[in-house]
Amino acid sequence: MNQILGELHQILEQKFILTADQDKAPYLTDWRKRYTGKALAVVLPKTAQEVAKIVQLCAANQIAVVPQGGHTGFCGGATPDDSGKQIVLNLKRMNTIREIDVANQTITLEAGCILQAVQEKAAEQDFLFPLSLGAEGSCMIGGNLATNAGGTNVLRYGNTRDLCLGLEVVTAQGEIWNGLKGLRKDNTGYDLRDLFIGSEGTLGIITAAVMKLYPLPISQWTTLVAADSVASTIALLNLFQKRATSLLTGFEMMTQESLALNEKHFPQMANPLKGNPPYTVLIELSDHESEAHVRQLLETILEEAFEAGLIADAVIANSLAQANTFWQMREHITLAQAQEGANLKHDITIPLSALESFIQETDTLMRLKYPGVRIINFGHLGDGNLHYNIAPPLGVDPKAFNLVNEKPIHDLIYAQVERCQGSISAEHGVGQLKLDGLRAHKGEVAHDLMKILKRALDPQNILNPHKVVSI
Ligand code: FAD
Ligand code: MLT
Ligand code: ZN
Repeated sequence: MNQILGELHQILEQKFILTADQDKAPYLTDWRKRYTGKALAVVLPKTAQEVAKIVQLCAANQIAVVPQGGHTGFCGGATPDDSGKQIVLNLKRMNTIREIDVANQTITLEAGCILQAVQEKAAEQDFLFPLSLGAEGSCMIGGNLATNAGGTNVLRYGNTRDLCLGLEVVTAQGEIWNGLKGLRKDNTGYDLRDLFIGSEGTLGIITAAVMKLYPLPISQWTTLVAADSVASTIALLNLFQKRATSLLTGFEMMTQESLALNEKHFPQMANPLKGNPPYTVLIELSDHESEAHVRQLLETILEEAFEAGLIADAVIANSLAQANTFWQMREHITLAQAQEGANLKHDITIPLSALESFIQETDTLMRLKYPGVRIINFGHLGDGNLHYNIAPPLGVDPKAFNLVNEKPIHDLIYAQVERCQGSISAEHGVGQLKLDGLRAHKGEVAHDLMKILKRALDPQNILNPHKVVSI
């Protein structure tokens, strides 16, 4: 092992190879504090060439490499195992924006760029970079690509995959694949880019990417509305899709229980809607025409929704500050859950046509089998993506509760997901958290194909082993 560290010094300066426990510690525990691993070293390369040399060295010595970005992932994908033999390769020093191509409407950037910095850089040039999620102040574009992150703008602009036109990747053999042409069309055989996106660091290390940019909207209007049932929220979504079409950029749902938890930890974020409705929906419209145009459209659709009995109350944000408060109320649910203690996350998608049945049946079963349990159900309803998270009954120790109930609760919810033809991961990925259940969920053929791909691209199994698939 000392020999490896010695050879690493030929690639990186000493200060970019962390071996002391206190230096490594911030890289070894995930955001949820659910996983803590050990590492031989944490390395901080600055260039794709350095990444390639590190991987070559690891490949020659059968040492596993765990790629890491902002370490905000929810599935333990960026946390090493506890052998102390793996190397964590954190990309934060690779944070250069290489180019903004105005005519091509693209940005070419390195994997360690923080998402929020990318949004800001794009805005300076009058562009929108639409990927947006609660962790945007610390997650990195390489991590977003590796997890195919979703977030709150998917409804209009798609997942991270849909925003990506090209990648630069270091392979498991330590070669650099340059696929950064930034083309909107390229049918020359297998799509390698799509193979690496969403592979959670198991097939290659993403070092740079070309991402799409969009014109900045002139005006955005945000509203909170109260709905009595899941059926009403879906009918409301369909109404907005029909009337606002591509102006609809956000449609997020929060249940009464989710907002109650939020208010407990962040009292300043009380729901402005009257009477704590069963479902609160946050809707955002973005327009490239004028403020008056979008405001008028929003009011007309809301009127129609009232008349159809789909909503009971609505508050339109009358300033940017108020709109931000509405969004914070939505995004703080994750933080409120973290403050409340360990919880069970479910990051599922259900076809919209089955969503009502899913929620009704799963809520009933959960309350029957786990009296007092808190169902913190919220999420990107426009994408059929629910964060159907579970907190123990009030007063019950979360760790003790999870120890006994984690598996049966996952099983109950995933059985409902299967019944409704959904997916057990809409956006957070598999990592180590969902590794065991994946075969059953994907089916044998799909799971075997995934293993074949992993073996073909990483025959030595050195890139993030035992994450996503075990070979
Ligand atoms: P990390 O956590 O560092 O890594 C995630 C995975 O990608 C790991 O498997 C890692 O090995 C791999 N990886 C990282 N960088 C690279 C690279 N350069 N090359 C190859 N593999 C790499 N996610 C959503 O999708 N939608 C949300 O709305 C959302 N909201 C969130 C809100 C909060 C408050 C938090 C804390 C997280 C949220 N997340 C959400 C989860 C998380 O932010 C995303 O998964 C994000 O994309 C992870 O980026 P990261 O840089 O932190 O990656
Ligand atoms: C979000 O959308 O806020 C996160 O992805 C959900 C979560 O914390 O489970
Ligand atoms: Zn989410």
